[in-house]
Amino acid sequence: MLKIKTLIFSSVLLLFFGPVTLAQKGKYPQRKDVLKLIDKDYKVGIEQYKLMMKRLGPQDFPKTYFPASDKAENSGSGWWCSGFYPGTLIYLFEQSKEQTLLNESERIMKVLAKEQYNKTTHDLGFMMYCSFGNLEKLEPGAATETILINSAKSLMSRFDPKVGCIKSWDSKPNDYLVIIDNMMNLELLFWATKQTGDSSYYKVAVTHANTTMKNHFRSNYSSYHVLNYNAATGAVQQKKTAQGFADESAWARGQAWGLYGYTVMYRETRDKKYLEQAQNIARFILDNPYLPADKIPYWDFDAPNKPNALRDASAAAVMASALLELYHYSDKQLAKKYYTTAETIIKNLSSPQYLAAVGTNGGFILKHSVGSIPGKTEIDVPLTYADYYFIEALKRYKTAKF
Ligand code: GLY
Repeated sequence: MLKIKTLIFSSVLLLFFGPVTLAQKGKYPQRKDVLKLIDKDYKVGIEQYKLMMKRLGPQDFPKTYFPASDKAENSGSGWWCSGFYPGTLIYLFEQSKEQTLLNESERIMKVLAKEQYNKTTHDLGFMMYCSFGNLEKLEPGAATETILINSAKSLMSRFDPKVGCIKSWDSKPNDYLVIIDNMMNLELLFWATKQTGDSSYYKVAVTHANTTMKNHFRSNYSSYHVLNYNAATGAVQQKKTAQGFADESAWARGQAWGLYGYTVMYRETRDKKYLEQAQNIARFILDNPYLPADKIPYWDFDAPNKPNALRDASAAAVMASALLELYHYSDKQLAKKYYTTAETIIKNLSSPQYLAAVGTNGGFILKHSVGSIPGKTEIDVPLTYADYYFIEALKRYKTAKF
C-alpha cells in the first residue's frame, strides 16, 4: 500500500516538477530557522561586497584582509582566486537582483578575460568557471562561451596522457606535480564537451579523476596534497604536502576539494564509482574524531595543538556546499547525515564568531580561514574562496540548484 502511495506521489511530482525532482532522492524539508539565517547572511554578504567594491582599485582582485592594520591584500587577474570575487557577486545578484552587483561582476570580468589564454596554471576552472561559468548560467551568451571554450583549451594544454593528469604546478623538468585541488578544475571541461560536442574535454576530465583516485588517496580515503609523477614514465615518485601539516597528514581544505570534486564527477558522468568515492571521502571527514562538534574543521585534521589549532572556515564552506549536492544522490541515512552536517556548518558560519559584522572585515563575509601555515601566508584571515563557497552553500540550501 505504501509503495502504491509512493508511486502515485512520485508520478504527481514528476508531472509537476519534471524528472529533476526524482533525482533528488532523500530530500529533506528546509528548516525555517536555517532559512532565516540564510536571508540574514545574504543581507550581510550584499552589504559587505558593496563595501569591498569601493575599496578595490580598477585592476584589483580581492585576496585577503588584515584587520589589525585595516589593510587589504589584492591580486592581479592571474592569481588562482581571481574568479571568486565576480562569482560571489553573481550569486549575490541572483538573490537580490541588485544591478550594481552584476555590473561590478561584469566590470571585473573584463579584466579577468585575458586569462582564457593562460597556459601556465591549472587553476583555470576556479578562475574562469566560477566567474564566466556562473555568468553563462545566468545569461548565456556567445562572448562568454568563447571565453570559456578558450579557457578549457588552455587547461587541456596541461594534460599529459603518459601521466594521465593535468599538470598543476610547473617545476623541474623530471617532475610532474599534481595537487588534489585540481579536481575542482574539471567542471569547466565537462561544460566544454556539452557546449561543443567534442568529447576530448570529457575524456581528459575522466582520465584525470581516475588517475587521482588511484594514486592520491590513502586506504582511509584521506588524500595527499601533492603527487609528484615522473614526467617521462608517469610513475608516482613522491607523495607529499605543500599546505598541510605533514606529508602524511590530512590537510582539511584538500579533503574538501576531493569531496566536492568527486561529487561533481558523479553529477557529470553518473558513474557510481565516483559517488562511492565522494561518500568514502565524506565518511573520512564526518566520522573523523578530530572534526569538532561545530563541524568547522581544524586547518589540518592532524594539526598539533588541538583543540587550540586554528580552524579553517574555507574548508567548512567547501564541505557544506559539496554535502548539499552529495545528499541528493545518496540514500536516506547518508543523505540525512550530509544534510544536517551542512546545516550545522551554515549555522556556525552564520554566527558572529565567523560572520563579519557589516562594515568590518574589509568587506569580506567570513572570518577565520587559513591559506597556508607552512607558507606562512594568509593565516586566520578572510579569504575570497571561503566567501564564494559559503554563498554557494546558501544558494544550494535554498534552491537545490548546482
Ligand atoms: N591551492 C589552493 C588552496 O589553497 O586550496
